[in-house]
Amino acid sequence: MANATKVPPGTSDNSPAIHRWVLGGHQSVKSRQGRKTASRVVVLTKHSFAPGGASVSCSRFAPSDESLGYCRDVPTGTKREPLNISRWHSKIRLESNTITMTCLGWNEMGATMSDTVLVTGGSGFIGTWVLRELLARNAKPVMVDVQPAPTRWRRVLGGRAAEVISIEASLLDRERLQDAIEQHGVTHIIHLAALLTPECQKDPWLGCQVNVLGSTALFEAARRSGRVRSLAYASSYAVYGPEVGDSNDEPNRPPTFYGAFKQAVDLIAEQYWRHFGIASVAVRPHVVYGPERDQGLTAGPSLAARAAALGETYTIGYTGRVGYDYVEDVARAFFRSAVECPPGHTVVDLPSELATTEEFRSAIEAAIPGSVSQIMVNGPAIPSNVPPSPNYISNLFPDWQATSLLDGVRKTVEFYRQSMFGVS
Ligand SMILES: NC(=O)c1ccc[n+]([C@@H]2O[C@H](COP(=O)([O-])OP(=O)(O)OC[C@H]3O[C@@H](n4cnc5c(N)ncnc54)[C@H](O)[C@@H]3O)[C@@H](O)[C@H]2O)c1
Repeated sequence: MANATKVPPGTSDNSPAIHRWVLGGHQSVKSRQGRKTASRVVVLTKHSFAPGGASVSCSRFAPSDESLGYCRDVPTGTKREPLNISRWHSKIRLESNTITMTCLGWNEMGATMSDTVLVTGGSGFIGTWVLRELLARNAKPVMVDVQPAPTRWRRVLGGRAAEVISIEASLLDRERLQDAIEQHGVTHIIHLAALLTPECQKDPWLGCQVNVLGSTALFEAARRSGRVRSLAYASSYAVYGPEVGDSNDEPNRPPTFYGAFKQAVDLIAEQYWRHFGIASVAVRPHVVYGPERDQGLTAGPSLAARAAALGETYTIGYTGRVGYDYVEDVARAFFRSAVECPPGHTVVDLPSELATTEEFRSAIEAAIPGSVSQIMVNGPAIPSNVPPSPNYISNLFPDWQATSLLDGVRKTVEFYRQSMFGVS
């Protein structure tokens, strides 16, 4: 039997906003004698989360009125029905101003000590920062990568690197992938392992195997486990072309194999939700910058910030205006998307602050006055990828805050000064 409660006053009740609702759990209200007199239905909105809101999990933590959005007392005896995300999802969508509570508690919300998160590509640049985020949130990280733990782990994770369960394996080794998930009781996945643009252009066959088949292997392992609750994975602005295509039927098509493979995975993820109920969020960053970015053409601005911090010279090898996302924001986006994953297949674009290479250099100059003469800019103009109709991550997490380019560059410089000279 379902139990209904009205949408709280002062909050939008039109359909597009409804998917932001998250249902909480029942909280017992007891009399002085300790007798249960009522159950309180707690309705959470994403707005009610504290920034990062990672430790909210209604059925395991006693929610308090202050920390949660809205409470309403209902009579006792409400029948609890088992979690059924797809039914719950459709009810949410169908009923515009009444939330029908067919399930009580969404345990998937927030990381708890018992959450084990598998990170693929954890030896890489973004993967390392994702591991740091997981450790800070008290989730248990397991990582799979073809490369062993890199030295950057020591610089970014410090002594906590020892807490990461590290498995050296390829995504294409399906047996080991499945074993990793089963053996360590994985509940969430953050999928980052991939070959990047130059490798995919050089060898599309290999790129397709790793990026498309490897991703499918992972979705399949998640499905077979029956325990994985949700998955966040790296899509990319590379699925968008630099400008609107020649005809309205073909806007912004991916200009590279890499972009095409990312788009293929987005379509595959949608099928895993449709047919097997595996919920996922595709996170699309543009150019990710920050400490420890050292590979690829677009690593130039990050390496320039490093050089300036160390008093060295550097030439950024491209010009043009592209969007920049700071790596700690990107790591947070993957973490929140994995543990707060809504039902369905969701695609989100990161905000990516637009800047020319010269403007990036000015941000370095703002962090280290006088450094402008150390940084040269020279190379071809690279085109910016433009989402025709972006769905920014703030639509999923209304409390989302992005680090400005100025702050991100300052943090990057501080990281290098701290790790090289012990000063900030
Ligand atoms: N860096 C950016 O600007 C950017 C922008 C948009 C999207 N992305 C995406 O974010 C993800 C992480 O990017 P990154 O910058 O950290 O790249 P990275 O190259 O530093 O990390 C990728 C990791 O994947 C691993 N890997 C490659 N093939 C594998 C396989 N077969 N099995 C297991 N591991 C394998 C690599 O060893 C590497 O450690 C990628 O999916 C990338 O496409 C990156």
